[in-house]
Amino acid sequence: MEQFVQTITAKGIVKRFGSEEVLSGVNVAVQPGEILGVLGPSGAGKTTLVKCILGTLKLDGGTVEIQGTHMPNLRLMDRIGYMAQQDALYDDLTGLQNLVFFAQLKGMSKRAAAEQAHSLLKLVELDRDENKKVVNYSGGMKRRLSLTAALIGDPDVIVLDEPTVGIDPVLRELFWDEFKRLQRLGRSIIVTTHVMDEAEKCDRLILLRSGSIIEDGTPNELKAKTEIGTLEAAYITSAKRRGEEGGKQ
Ligand SMILES: Nc1ncnc2c1ncn2[C@@H]1O[C@H](COP(=O)(O)OP(=O)(O)O)[C@@H](O)[C@H]1O
Ligand SMILES: [Mg+2]
Repeated sequence: MEQFVQTITAKGIVKRFGSEEVLSGVNVAVQPGEILGVLGPSGAGKTTLVKCILGTLKLDGGTVEIQGTHMPNLRLMDRIGYMAQQDALYDDLTGLQNLVFFAQLKGMSKRAAAEQAHSLLKLVELDRDENKKVVNYSGGMKRRLSLTAALIGDPDVIVLDEPTVGIDPVLRELFWDEFKRLQRLGRSIIVTTHVMDEAEKCDRLILLRSGSIIEDGTPNELKAKTEIGTLEAAYITSAKRRGEEGGKQ
C-alpha cells in the first residue's frame, strides 16, 4: 500500500475540569476524504473533544497530531476550519466584513477573501443580508455565517460542532451536500451531532458517553448491532448498555 498520512490522529486524550474527568483516554483517527461523526448526549464531552483536538483546550493526557504535526500548532490553524458550537462573530461588523476579517486572519489577501466570501455567502443564502450588521442576524443566520467562516480559505481539516442546530431542513440538506462535496475533494471532516439522520451521512461514527467511546463503526455497522436496525436504536441501546456504569449524568 502506498504511504498514507492520516489527517488527524488523537491518542489517549484525557481532559479533566477540576475533579471531573470529561474525557478518559479517547482515540480518534480521521483520514483524508472522511467524515467522522461524533455522537453523544448533551454533556458527553463532544465539544471538549473537538477543542482538545484543535488544541484550544490543554490536554491532561494523550497526544494529537494533524497532518503529522504535533498539536497545538499555530501555523497549522490556517489549514483548519472550525465552527464552534457557540457563534464567535463580531456583532458590529456586517456578515461580509466578518468573513473577510476571518479570511485575512488565515492569511488571505483582501481581494481573494472578498471573492470567496461572496460565493460562500451565496451558498448559505446570506448574500442578500451580507451588508447587514451581525447584531441584526437571527440565530440561524449567525449559524450560517459561522459555517462560512469555517470554510473560508479552503481548509484541509474541517471541524464542525453541531453545525445544523437552528437550521431549517432544506438548508440542512444543502449544508450536507457541501460537506459531501468537500469530502470528495479529500478534506477531512469531524462533525458533532445528536441528529440521527445526519449521523447516517457520516462515513464513520464514534459514540461518546461519560468520557469514553462506547461504539465506533460505520453507520451500517452500528445499525446491525440492534434488532430494529436504526441508528437511533443503536444510540439508545448502547447508551443503556454502557451508560449507567459510570453513574454520571
Ligand atoms: N470550561 C469548563 N469548565 C468546567 N466544566 C466544563 C467546561 N467545559 C465543559 N465542561 C463539562 O464537561 C462535560 C462535557 O461538556 P461538553 O464537552 O460541552 O459536552 P457536549 O458537547 O457533548 O454537550 C460537561 O459535564 C460540562 O459541564
Ligand atoms: Mg457541545
